[in-house]
Amino acid sequence: MSASLFVVILGFCICSKGSSWSTLGRPEVIGPSEALVKSIIEFQCEPKIYPENETILLQLFKKDNRDKMLGESTSLNGEVVTMPMIITPYHEGSLECVAEALHNYNIEPTVSYPHYLKVVVPVEGAEIDVLSGPVDFFEGETLELRCDLIAGNHVSYEWLLNGQLVSQSPLHHVADNNLLINRTTSKDSGSYMCVATNHFKKTKFNSSSAVMITVKDVVSMPDISFTVLKEDSHSYSAEVTCQSTRGTPPVTFSLHNGTELVANITIEERSATFKVPLVLGQHLGRLQCQANNGDRTELSQWIPLEVVPVGGPVMMHHDYDVGENDAVIGVRFGCKAAKGSLPQYRWFLNKTLLHDRGSFYKVINQPPEQSILLLSVGTSSAGTYHCEVSDSFDNTSSISSNWMYLDTEVLNRLHVSVVAVVFGCFAFLVVLVSICCLVGAMFRRRKYGGRSQVNLEMERMEAAHEGDLDLSEYNGDADLVTMARGVEFDQASEASVDKWLQMKDWKKTLEDEAVEGP
Ligand SMILES: *[C@@H]1O[C@H](CO)[C@@H](O)[C@H](O)[C@H]1NC(C)=O
Ligand SMILES: *[C@@H]1O[C@H](CO)[C@@H](O)[C@H](O)[C@H]1NC(C)=O
Ligand SMILES: *[C@@H]1O[C@H](CO)[C@@H](O)[C@H](O)[C@H]1NC(C)=O
Ligand SMILES: *[C@@H]1O[C@H](CO)[C@@H](O)[C@H](O)[C@H]1NC(C)=O
Ligand SMILES: *[C@@H]1O[C@H](CO)[C@@H](O)[C@H](O)[C@H]1NC(C)=O
Ligand SMILES: *[C@@H]1O[C@H](CO)[C@@H](O)[C@H](O)[C@H]1NC(C)=O
Ligand SMILES: *[C@@H]1O[C@H](CO)[C@@H](O)[C@H](O)[C@H]1NC(C)=O
Repeated sequence: MSASLFVVILGFCICSKGSSWSTLGRPEVIGPSEALVKSIIEFQCEPKIYPENETILLQLFKKDNRDKMLGESTSLNGEVVTMPMIITPYHEGSLECVAEALHNYNIEPTVSYPHYLKVVVPVEGAEIDVLSGPVDFFEGETLELRCDLIAGNHVSYEWLLNGQLVSQSPLHHVADNNLLINRTTSKDSGSYMCVATNHFKKTKFNSSSAVMITVKDVVSMPDISFTVLKEDSHSYSAEVTCQSTRGTPPVTFSLHNGTELVANITIEERSATFKVPLVLGQHLGRLQCQANNGDRTELSQWIPLEVVPVGGPVMMHHDYDVGENDAVIGVRFGCKAAKGSLPQYRWFLNKTLLHDRGSFYKVINQPPEQSILLLSVGTSSAGTYHCEVSDSFDNTSSISSNWMYLDTEVLNRLHVSVVAVVFGCFAFLVVLVSICCLVGAMFRRRKYGGRSQVNLEMERMEAAHEGDLDLSEYNGDADLVTMARGVEFDQASEASVDKWLQMKDWKKTLEDEAVEGP
């Protein structure tokens, strides 16, 4: 209590005595807190409490460095002194003013509270240094860039890729003037720019630099395929295509036959084509594509270069689909040539070529194995069907299948009468035989019913031929048309229920499309 009272009294004495007090109080540094380098700034040092008629020496230092004086002046009786300075980066930091009585060593020198000065050096001369090495390299490598400046402090950096800010991500580390990208991809290619900025009050300074970085994709495993070209009536060639889905061009593709190099090319694309002579029906070795764009060589699969021309007989087979009430709603024809590596199938109704899909049919090509024609049974699908097979590279000659006649009206009538007959027989049998025998009989009848439908709906080709269809007129190259006279019955077995269901779905689709159509 008495101690604090003493402090209060002492403070009162200091205040009341004011300027006449013979001790020196803390001086005060007055000046801006921020300055631009090279500018001339006047700092002031004001002795607040001073002994009368004593010359006070005021000196400006950086805190912790009394060796280097920044300014000096003398003051008498509280006169505020100014110390002009040309600002250098050294001036940044805490400044303090030291006051001492010039001629009276009995007066203790005093030091001001520190005054912080920030010195701004405008940014200048930004330059990107690619620390990771070359400016073009393959994906997966690390890219490290650093933005160096000739001058500048209190700088903030921005990294742009093609004008877009590069943001921090698990693989992109942006830290001040450093940009590190681990495991680069070709998406990291582009023009990198670093923009260094700082500001003094409202004035903004900037400096930027750019560098072009190319991250190349390693070429992917090439695919190999070939098409056959007919050069003239007896000579053919194979156009072998090597194609990679990824990889930065240029790519060097080479074609190998066993261990032997057939050809190579360096190309600004991801695919190359080589032409090699071809003899039909002969095995001409195994081919492989190799692709390289500067990193590692990628190899394709081996493919045999062997083209077997299409050969007969061409077989047409069928099965069918029954609806909920046992009515036949769809028929599936299949067409298959005995041999041929590149067959092309065409379907005909009467003499008209059927395209990929129509109002009541759809062609499903599964080359080279076969082609399938799906039909929805209706009045428009009635007629004579056949298929023709030719080499996809040479359609001047073709081989025809057997012909099949589809009469849907007969089919529908038959369906009704078959049901009636079966019902009649059933009633008759109920009367005649025991329940035990009946079960066996029913099983057999059902089986018979299924078969008779198919047999009757598919009339033999001979019938069509004897009718109004003239085959020689139909295909001029008569000796090339092989005609299978017997209809090959590929019976629809109970086991193909899933196929039937598939066909039902397909038929539904066709019907839906017909409704939606114009
Ligand atoms: C200071 O100097 C002035 C004139 O030089 C004089 O009048 C005054 O008394 C002095 N004050 C003190 C405290 O010595
Ligand atoms: C990126 O790569 C550097 C060196 O290549 C490694 O030190 C750093 O841990 C990696 N960072 C990440 C996130 O993978
Ligand atoms: C850099 O400063 C100039 C003018 O000095 C201005 O036109 C430019 O937009 C600035 N660039 C950036 C990235 O701030
Ligand atoms: C491509 O073929 C040329 C000769 O035609 C050969 O000198 C070169 O080494 C080959 N390049 C490659 C990658 O196989
Ligand atoms: C591949 O090599 C075999 C034998 O070495 C030769 O018969 C065949 O013509 C060659 N094929 C190609 C396309 O060069
Ligand atoms: C095909 O010919 C038959 C007669 O042979 C005919 O009934 C049928 O309507 C014809 N089909 C088409 C689609 O022309
Ligand atoms: C054979 O193909 C060419 C072109 O692909 C076509 O113009 C021509 O009509 C076709 N010939 C036959 C008989 O289909």
